Amino acid sequence: MTNVKVVDHPLVQHKLTMMRRQDTSTAGFRRLLREISTLLCYEVTRDLELTSVRIQTPLCEMDSPVLEGKKLVFASILRAGNGLLEGMLDLVPSARVAHIGLYRNHDTLEAVQYYFKAPEDLENRLVIVVDPMLATANSAISAINQLKAHGAQNIRFLCLLAAPEGIERFHSVHPEIDIYTATVDERLNELGYILPGLGDAGDRMYGTR
Ligand code: URA
Repeated sequence: MTNVKVVDHPLVQHKLTMMRRQDTSTAGFRRLLREISTLLCYEVTRDLELTSVRIQTPLCEMDSPVLEGKKLVFASILRAGNGLLEGMLDLVPSARVAHIGLYRNHDTLEAVQYYFKAPEDLENRLVIVVDPMLATANSAISAINQLKAHGAQNIRFLCLLAAPEGIERFHSVHPEIDIYTATVDERLNELGYILPGLGDAGDRMYGTR
């Protein structure tokens, strides 16, 4: 699949299996999601540009690499995106954060927006949109439409599980945006859930139903 990067690291795959298990507790699910998100963050930032600065070590001066450009933006699609956000901020604490409030209308499966707050100068920053589940892709498409409308030009999408139907629909609207995912599952069911999946990520993370 073009523009889809599967992070098939053994630790990611192991943790994902634990997260899929029905008998994994809320606390366990949340901890695993935080751990896995640091590993996914490592991959999604792998090709960031570097520049060099002159520093003084205890022994001598040297030119040493640092990240180039403006701080990254992590854009969390509420509420499940926040589960990925925590681990990513552990790794990139200086990142700016955007919040995009969307919920799924359970009859139409359409994304309904209720909140948008992002840093102002999105056009100069890499924006990494995070949501654990790329199912119908309605939320991801809607979030990215809003980010583009607010100036974002350099965008990546990061999730845990993606359905083939979601990837196809996502790229029919935003073909240039790379998707990073831990795995691509089999399909969507008639209610828009990913199979075999892990259930409702937000409910499992927060212990709701
Ligand atoms: N959102 C979820 O949380 N789980 C799915 O399977 C699909 C969308």
